[in-house]
Amino acid sequence: MEQYAIWGGNPLVGEVEIGGAKNAALPILAASLLTDDTVLIDNLPDIRDINVLLAAMKSIGVVVERLGRHQVKINAAHIYTTAIEGEGIRKMRASYYFLGALLGKYKSASVGLPGGCEIGTRAIDQHIKGFKALGAKVRLEHGMIITEAIDLTGAHIFLDVVSVGATINLMMAAVLAEGLTVIENVAKEPHVVDVANFLNSMGANIKGAGTDVIRIRGVKSLHGSEYTVIPDQIEAGTFMMAAAITKGDVTVKNIIPKHLECISAKLKEIGCEVQDSDDAVRVVASRVLHGTQVKTMPYPGFPTDMQPQISVTLGLAEGTSIVRESIFENRFRYLEELGKMGANVTIEGNVAILEGVKKYEGASISATDLRAGAALVLAALAAEGFSTVDHIHYIERGYEDFPEKLNGLGGHIKRVTNAEELKRARLKVV
Ligand code: UD1
Repeated sequence: MEQYAIWGGNPLVGEVEIGGAKNAALPILAASLLTDDTVLIDNLPDIRDINVLLAAMKSIGVVVERLGRHQVKINAAHIYTTAIEGEGIRKMRASYYFLGALLGKYKSASVGLPGGCEIGTRAIDQHIKGFKALGAKVRLEHGMIITEAIDLTGAHIFLDVVSVGATINLMMAAVLAEGLTVIENVAKEPHVVDVANFLNSMGANIKGAGTDVIRIRGVKSLHGSEYTVIPDQIEAGTFMMAAAITKGDVTVKNIIPKHLECISAKLKEIGCEVQDSDDAVRVVASRVLHGTQVKTMPYPGFPTDMQPQISVTLGLAEGTSIVRESIFENRFRYLEELGKMGANVTIEGNVAILEGVKKYEGASISATDLRAGAALVLAALAAEGFSTVDHIHYIERGYEDFPEKLNGLGGHIKRVTNAEELKRARLKVV
């Protein structure tokens, strides 16, 4: 029994430091396999997904040396197999990045079918289409994706959907391929740019990351690098939303304000004050919040990974809000849990209609996936009374020290592991 026990109802106030971006760090670690030289990665978040990925790397012969909580040294000169399996790795989506990295370097990779949060079908057809265009063969066997090539040759690839995973995977597969690869209709997320910057720091020749077209001129080999992962846009956005939903005043530090513009704009629209500085953003929610419309879109649009956090906030905003999820088809399951706290929500396909209520009430709720889990924690912090949030393993996949950071802002949240601890938390006995 691992749960968060939460007493809600007080505004979050203060400053919080944001860690490295999970969705940049995962592919950057995989990309570090592309060189035999040593690579040093800094600002890694200390979260479950990263630790599972590092363990998988060790299992194929990669030397992983933790220099500190957020710093790791990697040497992949002595990889002895290009097959990656195991329960942990099958549960995470980012395992697919081993396909691009190992195929790119060794022309061979087999990886257990990717899992991750159950928020939709999450196809990987665009990754496969790209690998094939570069000259690889791809097949599925006993739950493994197996890809092999004699040689990889640059190609012109049009992605049918804008996919973060496919864009990054194809960059990794193409950096050592012969000649020029052009990938059109690519994702422009900050983490796509960060992975391209990392690969370039190792000697790759990638141009256009952050635009719709990426051009990769293959190079013979990559060399070692020291690299710092960008701050996590979604962790930052989650704390910005924590300020809004609890009517608080939070300064989110160590961020890149540009990456948060779409979130800041929505917060201003619903009645928050948002002040940017060089590497921080302050959100003050001193007025009544009012409802709005949100549609999730690829970057620079409103991120699907912030949809649950803004929805729980809009559930307390005056009037009607309409939230349209256009990236994943199964990303409203947490709204049933929010209903237990008193939210007034109707779901019609990929649209959620929220009629703002005055308050949420404490309840026993379950995280349904990573971001939804974080959003439900925010709802519980805003709610009147006591809540428990179950299935927190989802949240721990992607948030480092989540309870500690929230408590640093004046929240009352405790990780409990047995009935006695739960009782003490409910009675507010330390
Ligand atoms: C990544 C992020 C996830 C985020 C998502 C969108 C990681 C580990 N995960 O997931 O947190 O929510 O980006 O910002 O970085 N699609 C296809 N075919 C493909 C690939 C994708 O149809 O081959 C579809 C997906 O089903 C989805 C959409 O494209 O509807 C976007 O998916 P994609 O950007 O690839 O997301 P992920 O890489 O899975």
